[in-house]
Amino acid sequence: MKYNFETIGKRYYTGSGKWDELLEHGVGEGEDIIPFSVADMEFETAPEIVAALKEELDRYVLGYANPTPEYLDTVCRWMKERHGWDARPEWILPEHGIVEAFFHAVQIFTREGEGVMLLTPVYYPMYQAVQNNNRVLVDCPLIHRAGRYEIDFEDFERKAADKNTKLFILCSPHNPVGRIWLREELERISEICLKHHVLVLSDEIHFDLVMPGYRHTVFASLSEEAANNCVVCTAPSKTFNLAGLQTSNIFIPNPGLRKQFLDHLLRSSTNPKCNILGYRACEAAYKHCTPWLEQAIQVIDTNRKLITGFLAQTLPQIKVTRLEATYLLWLDCRGLGLDSRELERINHQQARLFFDEGYIFGPQGAGFERWNLACPTRYIQEALERMAEVYPKYIK
Ligand SMILES: Cc1ncc(COP(=O)(O)O)c(C=O)c1O
Repeated sequence: MKYNFETIGKRYYTGSGKWDELLEHGVGEGEDIIPFSVADMEFETAPEIVAALKEELDRYVLGYANPTPEYLDTVCRWMKERHGWDARPEWILPEHGIVEAFFHAVQIFTREGEGVMLLTPVYYPMYQAVQNNNRVLVDCPLIHRAGRYEIDFEDFERKAADKNTKLFILCSPHNPVGRIWLREELERISEICLKHHVLVLSDEIHFDLVMPGYRHTVFASLSEEAANNCVVCTAPSKTFNLAGLQTSNIFIPNPGLRKQFLDHLLRSSTNPKCNILGYRACEAAYKHCTPWLEQAIQVIDTNRKLITGFLAQTLPQIKVTRLEATYLLWLDCRGLGLDSRELERINHQQARLFFDEGYIFGPQGAGFERWNLACPTRYIQEALERMAEVYPKYIK
């Protein structure tokens, strides 16, 4: 079946985080604006998911729902078939989102004043999870080398060895720099964290959005020791554009850590359950929507190639970071010679383009733009034409 990746219904005034935010920038409906910011997709939901939700609604019952054995088996089958990981249903705790899960993990597994490591620049709510909970940010800057990012393992180990460091939040694949961590890199991380008693929370929300030629490794699949020293956060929300249903699957293989996590949820009266529509959508996605996903990845890859080719020819001052996974392209715009606030202003006011500004991912992100590629290819074409028209007037 060929799916529709070219048109989508109106999103203004629907409460969309991405589109309604534009209204706050003084942009009116009907203006020719393209947001490439917040990480959801400008693609229609797969028809198999919509059909499953309609079927559920046709039952006319929307009561409290637990994950069924069928749901848990389906999630485990996805892990096995797509990622080669043998996960067990009893390891899964449903959560209302991965951000919620890593906030909880910080509260459960560390105390005020203790250190939490991040590889930066990184998805900005991870900083908030550390700082809003009065933990100490242990910043491990990635090394930017020839359009790709690498871990500085010496620095990483030195910081892990500090007795105050208790948790490492890994973003795998990494948002915003698009890296898929190699098995060897993950093994080294695991070894260091085990040696220094640092727990790993692996946020793998982008794990299905892997570009052709790359392969994702689930952190817990590395070894039994790694599995016993981690929390793995997964969800169908990025993969199938279901973020609004707030359903994620948190895997904690270690029974002691799992009990600690669950006890905390119960103590803080957080209901460790999601909603019935979220469960149904996840189940339908994992059972029936691999062909939709493969096609979505093709569109994302086409968009990436288009940008890479166009910029190399027309605006070579902008360097494209290699995209190994996620649909978030990380553009190094420092060659334009513009201050990041000035570039933001030019994008908004002159080019009428909204990216996610690199500086929101930490100071190393200044001068970068994060471009959401999960959209019809004609949006990308239009954006490139605007960049080619506007930027040369301002390049220094
Ligand atoms: C790395 C990462 N983690 C978590 C999230 C959000 O997760 P959730 O919507 O499940 O809270 C995002 C969204 O962009 C993300 O990129």
